[in-house]
Amino acid sequence: MRPLHVAHLQVRAFRNLAAVDLEPGERFNVVSGDNGQGKTNLLESLYVAATSKSFRTSKMNELVGFGAELASVRATVADDFESRVQSVGLKPGARLVRIDDKRPASLAAYAVRTPIVVFHPGEMTLSMGASGERRRLLDRTSLYMSPQSMADLEAYTRAMKERQRALETRGPSASDLPEWETLVVRHGLAVMGHRARAAELVSDKAILAFSRIAAPELVLTAGYAPSAPSDEAAFLEALASRRTSDMRRGSAGVGPHRDDLSLAIDGHPVRGVASQGQHRAVTLALKSAEIEVVGQARGVRPILLLDDVSSELDRVRTAALFSFLREQRGQVFLTTTRPELIDTGADGSARRDFVVKSGVIVRTFSG
Ligand SMILES: Nc1ncnc2c1ncn2[C@@H]1O[C@H](COP(=O)(O)OP(=O)(O)OP(=O)(O)O)[C@@H](O)[C@H]1O
Ligand SMILES: [Mg+2]
Repeated sequence: MRPLHVAHLQVRAFRNLAAVDLEPGERFNVVSGDNGQGKTNLLESLYVAATSKSFRTSKMNELVGFGAELASVRATVADDFESRVQSVGLKPGARLVRIDDKRPASLAAYAVRTPIVVFHPGEMTLSMGASGERRRLLDRTSLYMSPQSMADLEAYTRAMKERQRALETRGPSASDLPEWETLVVRHGLAVMGHRARAAELVSDKAILAFSRIAAPELVLTAGYAPSAPSDEAAFLEALASRRTSDMRRGSAGVGPHRDDLSLAIDGHPVRGVASQGQHRAVTLALKSAEIEVVGQARGVRPILLLDDVSSELDRVRTAALFSFLREQRGQVFLTTTRPELIDTGADGSARRDFVVKSGVIVRTFSG
């Protein structure tokens, strides 16, 4: 795999980060600070630089610093001994993305250049929560496996919205419904194809990872759980027969917007049955699968963002986390309120420490 890391990061007016210029190390970067100082904001700015999106909001306007007009992030990425500058400028209603000051062909083309995986406390919903988080996991990995998947998903979502609008404004016999449903099926099947391929790889890797993380007698099974027939005619028929009920409930009862990745331990669905510790193991297994699949798809080790690793850490979990981290060979950014608990096991040259206070970041040197 080719080496990849962010060598320089410049952030302006991004949330509470007024002006940050950071020289991260190639391996571990430990960012500490009290609550509310800007640790997650820093990780978010890295994620935006890499993907043009945030991992905690879809409303890009929220990212612009209070009172500022324009936020920007600019990352110099060293990739296989070459370097490029990826930048994102944000102002209300507009997003400007550039690679070496040139417009990329599409947002997807931009988003796959610097693979990045984020791990934050809310991630437990991957195992415990509703299907949305798992669909997003499949879509994130699909993007790196096949950048076209982003456009397919957008086209599907648009067609579905138009069908729903037609139903709700003009009823189940609206004359344009067959047209929308044809589009829904065409793009929906494409989305399902991407997700099926992603789910297969993610499941394989997650099952293996789980067997290493959890008690050896527990067996995880995982697989794509589509919510529409994979046959074109059957999918069309399913939509046509549900027009009245879809109109009443305000959304379609079939289609990949309801897909899931099914997860079971020893044959029992994980959700609602697994213990807290088992949910953690499943989550960690899914995230390490994501890292592996994304890495293999792009031929690099993804940059890893680990937010708030010190929350509720006990000794066993810390050990599990660090054995996981030792296996990662790429660049890692981790935030914590308790840097004294973070033993990266790395020698000094592989680790850089930073402290954030009120949006200002400084590098610290121990000893
Ligand atoms: N658009 C914005 N402009 C300015 N400040 C913002 C903006 N959005 C959020 N903030 C501020 O950023 C701060 C939170 O930063 P962040 O979430 O990075 O904290 P943190 O260091 O991760 O804290 P914790 O340890 O509690 O997770 C808050 O003080 C919040 O008010
Ligand atoms: Mg935080």
